[in-house]
Amino acid sequence: MARNNFPDRVFVTGTDSGIGKTTVSAILMAGLPNSGYWKPVQSGTEDVTDSQWVRRMTGLPETRFYPETYRLKAPLPPHASAAMENVTIDLEKFWVPYLGSLERLIVEGVGGVMVPLNEQHFVLDLMKRLNYPVILVCRNGRGAINHTLLTLEQLRNQGLNILGVVLNGPPIASNRQAIERYGKVQVMAELPVLETINPHTLARAYKDHFHLE
Ligand SMILES: Nc1ncnc2c1ncn2[C@@H]1O[C@H](COP(=O)(O)OP(=O)(O)OP(=O)(O)O)[C@@H](O)[C@H]1O
Ligand SMILES: [Mg+2]
Repeated sequence: MARNNFPDRVFVTGTDSGIGKTTVSAILMAGLPNSGYWKPVQSGTEDVTDSQWVRRMTGLPETRFYPETYRLKAPLPPHASAAMENVTIDLEKFWVPYLGSLERLIVEGVGGVMVPLNEQHFVLDLMKRLNYPVILVCRNGRGAINHTLLTLEQLRNQGLNILGVVLNGPPIASNRQAIERYGKVQVMAELPVLETINPHTLARAYKDHFHLE
């Protein structure tokens, strides 16, 4: 993918939890020079956080990583883990990070777009507030078309700009074509399972699999 085709800020979301958002973010960090990573809400801090994982796997310096706005201990949906700490997630607290000497910013969401942040707001509302072009990560298997089209419709209803879809996992014939046709969207990558994850394989995955027309 040509570097200059890539917007300076993107929001990486998914059709589900554990779908590959952090993996795709790490690939973008490794493949696009001088990028920063921001996970605005980390729900679950006992294990490796997404920010720590991206840092470890890419080997990039701490200066490329923005601190989370909310770090919540329990690995639950954010509204629930916040409640356990008597915290209410406030959309006003999400400031737009200053890029400084960095060229671009990769923002990773939490779960899918309809994950609640508080009594009124969902991840989708945070996405609207930031208003960055969206990369949607989907599992490339049975159900991919349905999950992808549902999420795309919700994103479009809210006026968000979709940069492209990443189909993650062993390809299923015709999924890509159907998603592009019915979803009126570009599949920017069909990402295979990476046998090993390190700075080299991540940068290679970007080069080999990501294309933006
Ligand atoms: N293409 C891939 N190749 C190898 N491993 C992958 C790939 N995609 C995802 N994984 C692995 O699957 C697991 C879940 O992926 P990942 O953490 O990227 O999902 P996520 O959408 O960020 O999850 P969360 O909702 O917890 O933030 C991780 O262990 C990750 O390393
Ligand atoms: Mg993640």
